[in-house]
Amino acid sequence: MVLKNVCCIGAGYVGGPTCSVIAWKCPDICVHVVDKSEMRIKQWNSDKLPIYEPGLEEVVKECRGRNLFFSNDIETAVKEADLIFISVNTPTKTYGIGKGRAADLKHIEMCARKIAEVAEGHKIVVEKSTVPVRAAESITHILSANTKPGVSFQVLSNPEFLAEGTAIENLLEPDRVLIGGEESAEGNEAVAQLTWIYSHWVPTEKIITTSTWSSELSKLASNAFLAQRVSSINAISALCEATGADVSQVAGAVGRDSRIGSKFLQASVGFGGSCFQKDLLNLVYIAECVNLPEVAMYWQQVTDMNEYQRTRFAKRIVECLFNTVTDKTLAVFGFAFKKNTGDTRESPAIYVCSHLLEEGAQLNIYDPKVESKQIQCDLTSVAVTSEPERVQQLINIYSDPYDAVTDAHAIVVLTEWDEFKKYDYKKMLSVMKKPAFIFDGRKILDHEALINIGFHTETIGKRFSRNTLLRASGEHFPAFSWTP
Ligand code: NAI
Repeated sequence: MVLKNVCCIGAGYVGGPTCSVIAWKCPDICVHVVDKSEMRIKQWNSDKLPIYEPGLEEVVKECRGRNLFFSNDIETAVKEADLIFISVNTPTKTYGIGKGRAADLKHIEMCARKIAEVAEGHKIVVEKSTVPVRAAESITHILSANTKPGVSFQVLSNPEFLAEGTAIENLLEPDRVLIGGEESAEGNEAVAQLTWIYSHWVPTEKIITTSTWSSELSKLASNAFLAQRVSSINAISALCEATGADVSQVAGAVGRDSRIGSKFLQASVGFGGSCFQKDLLNLVYIAECVNLPEVAMYWQQVTDMNEYQRTRFAKRIVECLFNTVTDKTLAVFGFAFKKNTGDTRESPAIYVCSHLLEEGAQLNIYDPKVESKQIQCDLTSVAVTSEPERVQQLINIYSDPYDAVTDAHAIVVLTEWDEFKKYDYKKMLSVMKKPAFIFDGRKILDHEALINIGFHTETIGKRFSRNTLLRASGEHFPAFSWTP
């Protein structure tokens, strides 16, 4: 079989960029990205794409209408495709068995049923979504239970490892491409077909093949390891604040050990995004289901530590502002869960802001890429507050950071956008209430410079003895003493 037509169900943060890159690198393949959402498809076909990713617009503009098409016609795309990626969302279940932990596979199942209903001939079905281990088995069951004469399927696992904000870069130069397939002649043939697509631009030594179950579990394990590093350094950051050590220096020293490595050792207000939390919870749930409570507890602690870090940071803001933020104005810089994306799913900003709103703070929020509608929606959702009207009155969304700080008591940095490093903080200080505070939850600012111009400066994993307020109030690091 020569692959000519590829279809992807799900035009989201994964399906959109992944298939745009496939279309760009494989001009001999026709790629149809389909979605049930009319709005999303309309945006993919417009000048303003539904997601922001550096480099994405250029790729889409070059391929769209040539060998890359976005549409809502799922049936035709499935019928014509030789290979179908399933790239739909797999959020944490909000109901029933496994509520709050298990992955909700209803969208995956709907795709499998749709494929079974309309497919003709032989199809390779590729799980691109992150799924629990052995989900491919369920897809296979649905497909084979509904197979018509002359129709056959092979199901592969091909998890996506891209990170939002660097998606195009990651897709073009992946650390690895992982393909899991059935250990049979048909399975090997399907793996070879998918390998052929990637080999248009990925060196073959970077394309790893495993069993389907290993591939599925590798994705969950990768996200769990990444989240664990963030929680590990964040746990150390709390120790640094209590003892007078500096977490950047500790991370620098620890990361020089080649067995540990220096990446992903940046202490912060916590991890966010649509994946880490949900994939960790899913892993915990799987471990519980197979009766491994110790394993479940181990990974649960990674997400607990993340929650602790967000709450700790929010509490520190309140404490520093003389134990009350009621009716105080705080300028929030950044709402996206990380820089270079407009995605706010599970953003630490949601949790820190909702804690401050609960305490009665007035928030002036600025983010370079997040739409104000999205911020309002996140902070007034039922999952976050029982008083949406009150919250609505306490938040103001700004399109200019200098306007956001006028008459504010403090600046709170919650996303590591590069532009925050370049602001004229002297100018900002001049229009703020005094004493003016700055809380850097991402450790990106020049703290010494901020202290020198008169900001009371707080960050994660370090205390500044030069802060004038600390000196005036006689606050000092507790002498470290240990008596048995
Ligand atoms: P998303 O929510 O941005 O996109 C999913 C899309 O699927 C939506 O546009 C939705 O309308 C569509 N959809 C859902 N059910 C459908 C159906 N039955 N028929 C047609 N369209 C349907 O989700 P995202 O972020 O792209 O994630 C997709 C999967 O990839 C998830 O399993 C996620 O865990 C995984 N993943 C996400 C990464 C990320 O950075 N966002 C990175 C790696 C994996």
